[in-house]
Amino acid sequence: MLAPACTQPPAESRAAAAAAHAFVPDSTGYEHRPPQDPNGISKYYHGRQIAHVMGHEGADWLERPNRAEEERTDLLLQALQLKPTDVVADLGAGTGFFTFRLSPLVPQGRVLAVDIQPEMLRAIESTKARTHLTNVEPILGTTKSPNLPPASVDLVLLVDAYHEFDHPREMMQAVRRALKPGGRVALVEYRAEDPQVPIKRIHKMSMDQARRELEDVGLEFVENIDRLPQQHLLIFRRPR
Ligand SMILES: C[S@@+](CC[C@H](N)C(=O)[O-])C[C@H]1O[C@@H](n2cnc3c(N)ncnc32)[C@H](O)[C@@H]1O
Repeated sequence: MLAPACTQPPAESRAAAAAAHAFVPDSTGYEHRPPQDPNGISKYYHGRQIAHVMGHEGADWLERPNRAEEERTDLLLQALQLKPTDVVADLGAGTGFFTFRLSPLVPQGRVLAVDIQPEMLRAIESTKARTHLTNVEPILGTTKSPNLPPASVDLVLLVDAYHEFDHPREMMQAVRRALKPGGRVALVEYRAEDPQVPIKRIHKMSMDQARRELEDVGLEFVENIDRLPQQHLLIFRRPR
C-alpha cells in the first residue's frame, strides 16, 4: 500500500515515549499515543490508529491497469443500485477512478468528487475536460468536512479513504448532515478479518470496527454486501 515513507525510532525510545505518555482520549473521543504502526499518525479513534493520507504521488497506483479486475469494481458499482437522477459524492475521490465510472450511471444526476489534495482535484479537472463528463463537480474539502450543502446527497461513496480521515467523527457528522433523509453511505475498505488480503493492517478495517465508528455518529447499518474479492462493502443510512 502506498503511504508516505516514515522513519521509526528505535524500540527503546518508543517504549520510553509510551511510558511517558498518558493514554487519555481528548474531549472528542480521540486518543494520542505513540504509533503501533509507523504508517499511522499516532491518533486513535475507537482504538483504531488512523493511517497517513496517501499522497498524490501515489496517483498511478490508484489508476493501475489491473485494478478493475483485481477489486471487481464492476460488482461494486452494480451493487450501489443507483438511480439516473442520483446525486453521489465520491468522498476521498483521489484521481477520480470511481468518479468517472459513476458519472454515466447518473446521467440526470451529479457526481461530487471531494478530496483534500488540490493535486487530486487537478487530475479530476483534467479528466473531466478530456471526457466531457459534465455532471462531475470537483470539490475541495477540509479534514473535517466535505463542504457539501445540507440534505443534498443520495449516496456518499468512500473507497479506501475513510481509514485515512484524521477527524473521522467530525467528517462523518458532516456527511450525515449532507445526506438526504434516507440517503446512504457505501463504505469500502480492505477486509481486516482476511489475512489473505495483501494490504498492510493499518490500511484495512474490520466490519465491527466500521460499524462502531459510523453508528457512533447516528448512521444506521443497513447491510454487508459480501461480494467483493478483497473489500467490505458496507451500507449505512441517514435515518428518515
Ligand atoms: C487511497 S486514496 C483512494 C482514492 C479513491 N477513493 C480510489 O479508490 O481510487 C485516499 C484518498 O482520500 C483522500 N483523503 C484523505 N483524507 C481525506 C479527508 N479528510 N477528506 C477528503 N479526502 C481525504 C486522500 O487525499 C486520497 O486522495
